[in-house]
Amino acid sequence: MNRTRSKKSIKDEVARIVAGFAGFLYWCAKLCFIEDKATHKPIAFGLYPCQKEFSQGLLKGEWLLLLKARRLGFTWLLAAYAVWRVLYFRMYTVTVISQDKEFAADFLDKCRFVLDHLPAWLKRTPTRDSKTRLEFNYKRHGSWIRSFAPTKRALRSLASDLVIIDEADYVPWLKKILNAAEPTLETGNGQLVILTTSGGPDGHFRQLWKLAKNGKKKYKPVFYGWDAHPLRDEAWYKQEKESHEEDPLYMKREYPRTPEEAFESAEGRIYALFTEDARFVRRIPVHPDWVRYRAIDFGGVDPFVCLWIAQIPGEAPGLTVDPSCVETINEFLAYTNGPDGQPADENNHAMDAIRYAVVTFGLRGRIHIYREMYVLDSARKGLSVPDHARRIYERSAGETIKRTVADRSRPDSIVLLGQMNVPTVAHRQIRGGTKGEIAQGIDLVRALVAGTAKGKEAVALPGLQNPRVRKGVRICLEGTRQAADGYWRRAGKLRRKLARA
Ligand SMILES: Nc1ncnc2c1ncn2[C@@H]1O[C@H](COP(=O)(O)OP(=O)(O)OP(=O)(O)O)[C@@H](O)[C@H]1O
Ligand SMILES: [Mg+2]
Repeated sequence: MNRTRSKKSIKDEVARIVAGFAGFLYWCAKLCFIEDKATHKPIAFGLYPCQKEFSQGLLKGEWLLLLKARRLGFTWLLAAYAVWRVLYFRMYTVTVISQDKEFAADFLDKCRFVLDHLPAWLKRTPTRDSKTRLEFNYKRHGSWIRSFAPTKRALRSLASDLVIIDEADYVPWLKKILNAAEPTLETGNGQLVILTTSGGPDGHFRQLWKLAKNGKKKYKPVFYGWDAHPLRDEAWYKQEKESHEEDPLYMKREYPRTPEEAFESAEGRIYALFTEDARFVRRIPVHPDWVRYRAIDFGGVDPFVCLWIAQIPGEAPGLTVDPSCVETINEFLAYTNGPDGQPADENNHAMDAIRYAVVTFGLRGRIHIYREMYVLDSARKGLSVPDHARRIYERSAGETIKRTVADRSRPDSIVLLGQMNVPTVAHRQIRGGTKGEIAQGIDLVRALVAGTAKGKEAVALPGLQNPRVRKGVRICLEGTRQAADGYWRRAGKLRRKLARA
């Protein structure tokens, strides 16, 4: 009896060693089980090709940045990888962060499921098992997997061999968490794996992705689209799309074909049709005869924005942006409605400037934004309106600008701009505006983005049909350097008159 048991234990030990040497892929295929979502039964973890390919990077200890479509099995893969690491490596520590406490706990549940379904001879019972921690503290093994809810200080001074950030684009404080984690991991030779479906163009993840793509970050960017799943084909895609017809961004968000598509997909995007490709972003030499405009947004305190816009004659309605206008492109992608369904008060600086120009100058044809001046932190840098004016004037050297428009909330600044050779008009419709006025302006810009704005007069602001409003607008548009301060007096008078009428 004793002899058979010891024979068995020797056999088990050999199997364990073989499994260890055979490596992670063998271990997944032969020994690891995950939970089938539908039946809740364990199924063998035969890796999908994308999971296999990704594992190569994992095993090399690379820092990975994974942008992916939904349901490709990556949370399970990382859970299995974490378990495999703590089983086979002494003093190995894994930290997991997910979008909230529940998701972080769910990751640990997946690890637990993998552990529980290992063959008896490979199974290790955790010496400590709680909602947020699995510890293996026997024979000085000293390994653990811990999960954390995302807080600003989540990873401060926590040394770990592997940090996994799941659903990273939905993790609050991602930037702060990474700033805390990166140096510790770097010095400790640790590994960082960040994975997510896109939360749209506005998050820190997209910044990381861009930096990684340009080789400016240690991360290796990896993308798996909807078709990385072995059981999906075009018929599946079509059916999925049809069953979510009410949400035009659903497929881009959940099942993108390309990284660009994934980042276009924020819910509630105001210019949802704008994409970062040649349809909207291209270099066009601006012909000297094209009429040019400028539009300024003082941006409350920050940033100060000036856009240069050319009207291209003889082309179908539309809007393009020069690739150098990086911030304008970002804002086109990131400008979204807030929780109240109204345009959020962020990423709206270049967006406001373009709205002012489109409303004020009646731009309805084919326009091209060919230059931007986007000055961040201008107040902190001690830059004042005359400094901006000087730069605007210099950057327009040799050009004839037909008109410049600015937010009317800063009459003093408009006068200053005029005194510095940037004569500027203000428009009654374009102060921050009422909700209705902003919405009308946005509709006009949307029509340009969609290429549906017809002639110059085709989309008139309803307000402009009112002769009294028209008079107000005319006064605004006639504003010049000399007339700017006079305008405010006259506008005030007009407002009072309108109120009496
Ligand atoms: N290799 C595999 N073979 C069979 N089923 C798998 C495999 N990998 C994952 N699955 C199943 O696919 C489903 C999705 O897995 P998982 O949650 O890990 O994917 P995900 O990419 O993290 O998805 P999400 O986008 O929802 O976060 C699960 O039900 C899981 O059981
Ligand atoms: Mg997942």
